[in-house]
Amino acid sequence: MVAIALLGGSGFIGSNFAQFLTSCDGYRVSSFDLNDKKLRLRFENKAYAFQRLDIRDSGSELDRVVAEADVVVNLAAHVRPGSFLLKPLEIVDLNFYSSISVVEACIRHKKFLVHFSTSEVYGKTGGSPEPFREDLSDCILGPVANHRWIYSSAKQLLDRIIHAHGLANTLDYLIVRPFNFVGPLMDEVVPRWTREDNPRVLANFMSSLIYNRPIQLVNGGHSRRCFTYILDAVAALELLIRRRHDINRQIVNIGNPANETSMADLASRLIRIYRTHCDPTADVAIEEVASEDFYGPGYEDCDRRVPDISKLTRLGWIPRYDLEETFTSSAIYFYENRRRLENLLHREPK
Ligand SMILES: NC(=O)c1ccc[n+]([C@@H]2O[C@H](COP(=O)([O-])OP(=O)(O)OC[C@H]3O[C@@H](n4cnc5c(N)ncnc54)[C@H](O)[C@@H]3O)[C@@H](O)[C@H]2O)c1
Repeated sequence: MVAIALLGGSGFIGSNFAQFLTSCDGYRVSSFDLNDKKLRLRFENKAYAFQRLDIRDSGSELDRVVAEADVVVNLAAHVRPGSFLLKPLEIVDLNFYSSISVVEACIRHKKFLVHFSTSEVYGKTGGSPEPFREDLSDCILGPVANHRWIYSSAKQLLDRIIHAHGLANTLDYLIVRPFNFVGPLMDEVVPRWTREDNPRVLANFMSSLIYNRPIQLVNGGHSRRCFTYILDAVAALELLIRRRHDINRQIVNIGNPANETSMADLASRLIRIYRTHCDPTADVAIEEVASEDFYGPGYEDCDRRVPDISKLTRLGWIPRYDLEETFTSSAIYFYENRRRLENLLHREPK
């Protein structure tokens, strides 16, 4: 039995992963987070192991949690692009300094660390059409004045520190780089959009559809992303943990390169799916908005982000959900659970 500790385990990925692991043999899962709201929704009336833990209090409690686990999965982070612009110092505090405490506890107790990095680490494409490769692609970020890149820089430095611990032979680890996972429980729906209550793109567009206000398309919606359905993502994660001794001290992309589309296509696709499966009377417009008005100053984006997934496919993983299934399942979940998702209204921890 492998004891897995999920830190930040009541978030979007953590709650879906904890539920997925209940269908697999050989794991004992404990989730740690500031609250268990999403776990409660994901597990409905079934039992799950949860304990409140703030990883910023890097004291004896974090030490005990790490000591009792075989594999520590660190998912705790501020993750919303809107928050990178509003509170860059808090991004560094949680996503870098507190995560360093988790790395150090894993070193102290000789525990395997699964660290969640991000595809944002790769930054801009620099005009190259190549898919991003973990050990070959450059990481190209914009100027410091565009402080959106603080999230990417903090995650990148942590990747480099973890890598250095591997070189020093002091830590066994896997670094995961997710490419735009989407699905149930990816953020709450918001009746009123503000810069503070600004969920990630799927929940944002679904909020517009549910509350009948225009979908806001930043800078014309030309940026392209590869969307990965959460069920594919958690299956990849379980496979990586099962095969951790074969991929020890590596960085692995998780993403679905076949599911590339633009934000503009995502908006019109979701409107069509919503009318077909949720509310045939829905009549929501699309309006273009400048990034400066939507996010505030300091925003910059990359035009495309396509993963090379050969490390994962060599282990036998194949993503199964295409764009249509991904967004149909997601839209139906959001629509059917809209009241419960509204009640999740997120406030970033102070
Ligand atoms: N979802 C994606 O597509 C994606 C893409 C790139 C990277 N990631 C990375 O994956 C990880 C998980 O992402 P997610 O989508 O599940 O985000 P999420 O926001 O849904 O989950 C993060 C969780 O961390 C918790 N948390 C915040 N501060 C904490 C603290 N001080 N102590 C303990 N827990 C705390 C939050 O309450 C939340 O439940 C993050 O590290 C993120 O950077 C995710």
